[in-house]
Formats: sequence, C-alpha cells, structure tokens
Amino acid sequence: MISRETIDEVKSRIDLVDVIGDFVTLKRSGQNYKALSPFTNEKTPSFYVVPSKGIFKDFSSGKGGDAITFVMEHEGFSYVEAIRYLAKKYGVEIREEAASVQSDAGNERDSLYILMGFARDTYVDLLFNHEEGQSIGLSYFRERGFSDPVIRKFELGYSLQAWDHFCNVALAKGFSREMLEKAGLIVTKEGGKQYDRFRGRVIFPIHNLSGKVIGFGARILGKQKDQPKYVNSPETVIYHKSQVLYGLFQARQAIRREGFCYLVEGYTDVISLVQADIENVVASSGTALTEEQIRLVSRFTKDITVLFDGDAAGIRAAIRGIDMVLKEGLNLRVVLLPEGEDPDSYSRKVGSTAFRQYLKDHEQDFISFKISLLRSEAANDPIRRAEAIRETVTSIAVIPDPIQRSVYIRQAAVLFEIEEQVLYHELNKVLISERQKKRQEAARDEREPLPPLESEPPLKGLTPVEMVQFQEREIVRQLLNYADTKLEEDVDLLSYFIAEFEELEFTHAGYGYIFSEFRNARNRGELIDSHYFMVNGSEEIKKLVTDLTLQRYYASPHWRDKYHIFFENEQESLPRAAPQNMLRLKYRYVQNLIEENMAKIREAEARGDHAAVDELIEVQMRLKNADQNLASELGIVSGKY
Ligand code: CTP
Ligand code: MN
Repeated sequence: MISRETIDEVKSRIDLVDVIGDFVTLKRSGQNYKALSPFTNEKTPSFYVVPSKGIFKDFSSGKGGDAITFVMEHEGFSYVEAIRYLAKKYGVEIREEAASVQSDAGNERDSLYILMGFARDTYVDLLFNHEEGQSIGLSYFRERGFSDPVIRKFELGYSLQAWDHFCNVALAKGFSREMLEKAGLIVTKEGGKQYDRFRGRVIFPIHNLSGKVIGFGARILGKQKDQPKYVNSPETVIYHKSQVLYGLFQARQAIRREGFCYLVEGYTDVISLVQADIENVVASSGTALTEEQIRLVSRFTKDITVLFDGDAAGIRAAIRGIDMVLKEGLNLRVVLLPEGEDPDSYSRKVGSTAFRQYLKDHEQDFISFKISLLRSEAANDPIRRAEAIRETVTSIAVIPDPIQRSVYIRQAAVLFEIEEQVLYHELNKVLISERQKKRQEAARDEREPLPPLESEPPLKGLTPVEMVQFQEREIVRQLLNYADTKLEEDVDLLSYFIAEFEELEFTHAGYGYIFSEFRNARNRGELIDSHYFMVNGSEEIKKLVTDLTLQRYYASPHWRDKYHIFFENEQESLPRAAPQNMLRLKYRYVQNLIEENMAKIREAEARGDHAAVDELIEVQMRLKNADQNLASELGIVSGKY
C-alpha cells in the first residue's frame, strides 16, 4: 500500500502536459494542446489536453480523465503502478504502508513488471560485478565499442553459464516458479525439469514506453554453431512483440528534438548508432515491421529514415513490408549502406563523424530509391521492366496524399523514361480496384440492420418529466455530434432545432444551457462542438457533454456485436431521425401536461370546486386531442409510452 501522503504529494507535482508529452507529441492550440489519438489510428487529431482543467479527452476512443488516468490507460497500469510511475518521474519518495512486494502486487501484470525489473537488475549486476560477467560479458561489449554510459543507458546485462542460476536467485527472493514461467524467464523441459531461458549470454532488455522492462533479447557470445544467435523472451501478458520497438523508450526525446527517426534492424545496430551520437534510432528487432509499430513511431514523428544493409537480398526483403509505412501517410526516406556493411559494422569502421556525414549525404526518398533499384534490376529486360513499373505504381498508389502521388509519378516517368500519362493510367487501375474492394466490404456491412432512430431508453418506470428530459437529451446529443449536418438543402440540424425551439423550452437546465450556447454561437456566425464545452463548461456541463459525446463511440464497438446497432450510419439517417425526435419530444411534453392536468383535476374534485373541474376537463380534452394527433404522426398507439 502506498501511503496517502505519497499519493497526495505525487498529485501535487503532476504537470499534465509534461506527463502526456512523454508519450504523445502535443501541438499547442490556444490554451490547450491537440494530438493524434494515441489510442486509435486516426488521421486528424481528436485528442485534447486541457491543462487548465487538468484533463485530457480523446474523442476518437472516448477515453478521458486526468494525468493518472492517462498513464493507466496508455501503459495499461493499475492505479498503484501509475502512482509509482509518476512518483519516479517527479522524484517523490514512495512511503509504503506495510505489505511486502509480493502481496502488494495484487494483479499478475504488477507482479510481472516487478519480476522483470528484478531480472534486469540481476543481469546488470552480474555484468558489472560478477567475475564471469566482467570477463566474458563486459569485455564482449567493450570489444564491440560500447561505452559504459551506453551500456548503462540500455541496461545491458549478462546471464551466467549455469542451468538455474537466475531461477534460484529469484526463488530465494520469494518469486514463485509459476511467475518465472509466466514471465518466460525459465523454460520447462519435457520431463518437467526447469531451467533458465537465458544462459551464458549478453542481455538486451526491452522496455515499454515508460521504461519498464517487458522482455529480453539474449545474444550468444562467440560462434557456437549449434545455438541460435539470439534467444528472446516469449510473448507474455506484458510483452507483445508486434507492438514494441526496441530503443523507443531511450530514443523518445531525441526523436522529438531531431524531428525524425532512424529505423534499423537489430539491437546492436541501435546501440552502435547511439554510440555514434545518433540517438533517434529504433529497431524492429529482426521481425517484419508491423502496422502497430509504425503507428507507435508515428506518435512521435512522421519522418522515418530506414537504414538498409548493403546487400541486395536483404534490401529486396526489407522493401516488401515497407509500402505499409507509406500507407500510414508517413514520409519515408532511405539510406543504403555500402556493400556488405550494416549500421553497426560501418559506424565502427569509419567512426562516428564520418558515419553521420554518410547518413546525411546518402539519404533519398523511398520511392526514388525503389524506382532506381527496380530499374537497375530490370535493366533491358522488357518484361521485368513492365513488372518494375507496375510495382512502383502500386507503392505510389498507397500514398494517401494525391499531391505527393503526382510528384512521384513525375519522378517515375523521368526515371523509367515513360509518358506520365501511361503511369497515371496504371495508377488509376490500382486505385479503382482498391476502391472496389472497399465498396464490397462496405456492402457486406450494410446488410446489417439499420440503426435505431435513437438509443432506446429504459422507458418503463420513468416519470413523464423524465421522459421529456430523455428526449431533450437525445436532441442535445444529436447537436453535439452533428450540429452542421444537412437535413435538407439549406437546413442543417442546428437551424432546424433553433426553429423548432422558438416556441418550446427545455425543462432540463443543463440541456437548455447547451442548446442556448449552440444558438448563441450560430448568431455570432460560429460553430461550436463538444470541445467548446469541454473547455468552457462547468464541471457539470463537462460531464453531460462527455457522456453525450462518448455515447456513440462507446456504443458502437460492443453494441455492434451484442445488439447489431450501427451508430456509424446515424448521420445518414438524421433527416429522418431529427424530426422524429422533435415529434417525440412534443408528444412527451403533452403526456407530461396530461399527467399534471390529471392531478389538478383530482385536487379540484377533492376541494369540491366543480367549476374548476369543468375547466380542467376541457383542457384535458384538448391535450388528449393533441396527444392523438402526435401519436398518429409518430405512427404509434397513444398510451404505449
Ligand atoms: N534476431 C533474433 N534471433 C536471431 C537472429 C536475429 O531475434 N536468431 C533479431 C535480433 O533482434 C537482432 C536482429 O534480429 O538484433 C538483427 O539480426 P542480426 O543482424 O543477425 O543481429 P545483430 O543484433 O545485428 O547482431 P550482430 O551485430 O552481433 O550481428
Ligand atoms: Mn547486425
């Protein structure tokens, strides 16, 4: 248990922008900050940080809250982990209130982080302080030119040549065999015998974005032929290989500073570059680049420079995965290293100054690189040339920006010595077939049932006033999400509601306020949306708006499966849904009035005021009449609601 004082101390030190800025590249926007959502793959920013309120709001995923919520959501931390993380960040000493490491770690993830941290500490200690670690591990790193500060920065370590050294140390410390296995630190042989996964190897810890160790890569020393060069941690509850880039934790600040990021292949490439004073570098760790990894980098920069080893086979393979980077709208550049060199070997060969210069001088954009590569491969073979052209065009087609596409088409035309027109013809073929594919997918979705006109309330048990307010809520919800959606040629949703509410009033103060803000803004010639209220609204309004804005987003993913509800189509059905909404509101108003009038009648009867009763019954009949009319317009049997 972390003490109350510690928690309060941490809270008092939190700087929201600083906390979130460690994970997301924030752009200032007035008093606030904007960014691409770190939780979804979006193209236009809908992630807001509002420092004055100490909150963030991610309109694309619906997540929102304060700095603690953010690190919990972003890093998958528990509350306690989030506090620990922030305490570490701000140098607050954590005071515990009893309970040992083991029992404190209430859930499995907590325990795994603690165990992996312990493993890292153990391997680091062995590297620097154990005789075997020093003579074998440390001297290996030094031979490769890794300096102590860099070794420390990456928390490199060493595992002893023994079957169960680590296992025993960890068990003695109180970790269970079960946890060791779940963390992938020990493996169980067929007979049930267990031993350390990493033995007699140098250790490269893999960190998540907040610097916690989630896995290890372990390199063999020397050249035993029958052993794999690397033994890696398996996937665990906290380690998902496809979502991690090696070195990103250490590179974050440098990537922001430099405005771009180098992408290399392996652990040692990353470290060699850092050793050469190039700190904005990450590795995909030998696997093909995944979309998640691309998205991860793109949170920090849109400019990526891939370093290719100078051997043809490697380049050919590497190029395949790379259209994906273009598809994500990133700017991709390439540096081709000299024949037979990788970043590690070449930087050591020529030294850091010459290496940095080489990278600067040999950078080219990816498409031109690909074109020249394909062209030289095709040489004078007309069939391969045609193939090369088609492949080039396919790459260009995935680039989202049409202007950028046309620049590349021009370039390709020059390099292939071919008419631009011919390339456009090819490009359009690719684009059209892509579009058809998309349309087919969309058609599949459309067979699902249409969305309901509103999210149906649990109407039973609501009083008439609550029913009216439910309808008001629905109107405000539509406004917050679709104020400027056209219902007809010259009528958008907001102007429709403004006209309707000339003679009506909201019964609910909050909804009424939101509506009047929309109307006032329209009178000023401005258009506001939910963000306006997140910034300007009172706590109560913010809460209302958050709920109403998020409803759609929350609703779609799992409601879709559960109730076959598609909110995505809601905008299209608005011209029908908005007037229905107004009708229902009026209908419920009238029902409310009927109820109130009924009460008055009973009261008058009790008083014996027959004149009043007569008058009230007259009113009641008019109300009933209106009720019938509205009901038939709505196509419902009155009294059903
Ligand atoms: N890799 C792996 N398992 C292997 C070989 C490679 O996981 N058996 C991954 C590692 O992440 C490695 C990357 O692929 O870092 C690149 O492989 P390679 O270039 O062979 O290794 P380096 O780390 O560059 O090692 P060195 O420079 O010592 O050759
Ligand atoms: Mn290598």
